[in-house]
Amino acid sequence: MTIAVYPGSFDPITFGHLDIIERAATIFDRVIVAVCLNPGKKPLFTMEERMEMIVRESSQLANVEVGCFRGLLTEFVRRKNAGVIVRGLRAITDFENEFQMALMNRKLNSEIETVFLVAQPNYSYLSSSIVKEIASLGGNVSGLVSEQVSQHLQGKYATTGE
Ligand code: PNS
Repeated sequence: MTIAVYPGSFDPITFGHLDIIERAATIFDRVIVAVCLNPGKKPLFTMEERMEMIVRESSQLANVEVGCFRGLLTEFVRRKNAGVIVRGLRAITDFENEFQMALMNRKLNSEIETVFLVAQPNYSYLSSSIVKEIASLGGNVSGLVSEQVSQHLQGKYATTGE
């Protein structure tokens, strides 16, 4: 059985992430979507909120589960007995950073492979950051995130005023 981990910040999950999750779920036996708690970043959504949104978005995919981790990704992958890290590649601008991470993760654990799935062209411009910026300015994010995520975003910006 091949278990893959799809790690990220998912702050919040977008249709671009969902596309990668759905495609990974057809390739691997089990996919663990892993929300990273990065002390260096100040996310808009809490870990619980991010996980809950992913659980709702992926509920129809029987072989997908949601987890979270702090610290090294390779340690989380090892604890889960997974052998693959899945990352989405949007534009060439993603490549340098992803290449560095993949090589570093291989140095940390040579038994773990990183597999890149190329984003669909219609999601290649999409990121959680740009979605948050649009939502914070009162713009329409439909077509970029689900209705439930859109409502969560509206709720956040209404209460935080950020
Ligand atoms: O969605 P993101 O923010 O692009 O995801 C980045 C993430 C979480 C995959 C990356 O920052 C990560 O793996 N963090 C865990 C810490 C770690 O293992 N660092 C060494 C990897 S080079």
